[in-house]
Amino acid sequence: MTRLGVNVDHVATIREARKGREPDPVAAAVLVDMAGADGIVIHLREDRRHINDRDLSIMREVVKTHLNLEMAATEEMVKKAITVLPDMVTLVPERRQELTTEGGLDVQANFDYLENPIATLRANNIVVSLFIDPDIYQIKAATRLGADYVELHTGNYANADDLNTVMDELEKIKSSAVAAAKLGLGVSAGHGLNYQNVIDIAKIPQIEELNIGHSIISRAVMIGMEQAVRDMLRLIR
Ligand code: PXP
Repeated sequence: MTRLGVNVDHVATIREARKGREPDPVAAAVLVDMAGADGIVIHLREDRRHINDRDLSIMREVVKTHLNLEMAATEEMVKKAITVLPDMVTLVPERRQELTTEGGLDVQANFDYLENPIATLRANNIVVSLFIDPDIYQIKAATRLGADYVELHTGNYANADDLNTVMDELEKIKSSAVAAAKLGLGVSAGHGLNYQNVIDIAKIPQIEELNIGHSIISRAVMIGMEQAVRDMLRLIR
């Protein structure tokens, strides 16, 4: 059965809109655990625009399933990871100006830079995943780097707006999943997956885990709206 990791970054995005204390992504993580998800995903960004260091360390205490920390392969983040010891680290590219992670990490071009962070994380018993585009050269480079997993970037598939491109992108993801599994890598996928486009991705047998954030948080806001309004009405009337 395909595992689900839920990315709760956007709960923190709402909190940071007021720089206050609510909603708390840690509370969201507990509810996600209770709902039966297989794990929690958080991205600790250099600029701490949503998840912060406090969230990471409390989450390490309360998440009983699987904590996957997305981060850039910088010295600061590697130090943080080997202190907090998440179950998995997913190395992602990071640019301050981007709204969200745009595209996979170019592990081929950054091979030398990535060798040391990956070895250090693995030496600390952290499972290492590399977020890459569905491309055979990236997969081969990930294998040579000694990664445990690759997370295939599904953003181009999710953003495609004509059927031919959707089918082409789906094909790339399928063949990459097969190639990665053959090379002995664990395979996950994510980015831009929603309640419509996830179906075909979830059918790919080699993909063990899907990491989904924005669409789940968006739906949670809508599903909770009626109750939240009713609760306020009860107080003021
Ligand atoms: N996987 C990775 C590596 C990501 O960077 C993100 C976004 O933070 C996701 C999965 C989840 O993407 P989305 O929020 O679009 O579902």
